[in-house]
Amino acid sequence: MRTTVDGIGGERAEARDSEIYVRDLYLNYVIKRGRKKASRSQPALEGVNIDVRKGEFLSLVGSSGCGKSTFLYILAGLIRRSSGDVVIGGKDVVGPALDRGIVMQGYALFPWRTIIRNVEFGLEMKGIPKKRGVSSRKTALRWWDLAAMRGDTPMSCPGA
Ligand SMILES: Nc1ncnc2c1ncn2[C@@H]1O[C@H](COP(=O)(O)OP(=O)(O)OP(=O)(O)O)[C@@H](O)[C@H]1O
Ligand SMILES: [Mg+2]
Repeated sequence: MRTTVDGIGGERAEARDSEIYVRDLYLNYVIKRGRKKASRSQPALEGVNIDVRKGEFLSLVGSSGCGKSTFLYILAGLIRRSSGDVVIGGKDVVGPALDRGIVMQGYALFPWRTIIRNVEFGLEMKGIPKKRGVSSRKTALRWWDLAAMRGDTPMSCPGA
């Protein structure tokens, strides 16, 4: 995806004027092919610039594979950009945080995390130490009857 969207009014914004400020954003996925074979780089975002100001509503529309989800994952702090600036609410995005949420189209699980690490995600985001979260984790696993699958990834669970 390569796109430039300036705020309503057309003038180019500075980071401090925008709720979401993205400049020259690049993301290359590194695809590893076995241990010995060289890895390949798959560009997904090439120089994206976007300004969203307070009260604005932005829809991203584009063909499949153009990089919409990749862009949103970077804003959510779930994947790390290759280069560029991403500033939300005046703060550089360096990882997930409670001021941002993402609602998945399909399922709301992180496929690369085990069941227990998915359960722990909310606690991690709130900065709750592992020891203090023990009873919440146990309750959640019991509630959804997932204790036996705590070490599995979501896709390996029945019904996935
Ligand atoms: N984890 C990944 N590893 C390697 N390449 C990836 C990965 N995720 C996405 N890609 C590639 O990056 C590009 C952008 O994918 P992305 O999923 O962001 O597109 P999208 O616009 O959300 O598509 P769709 O409309 O189908 O959801 C595509 O070429 C895709 O194949
Ligand atoms: Mg997508």
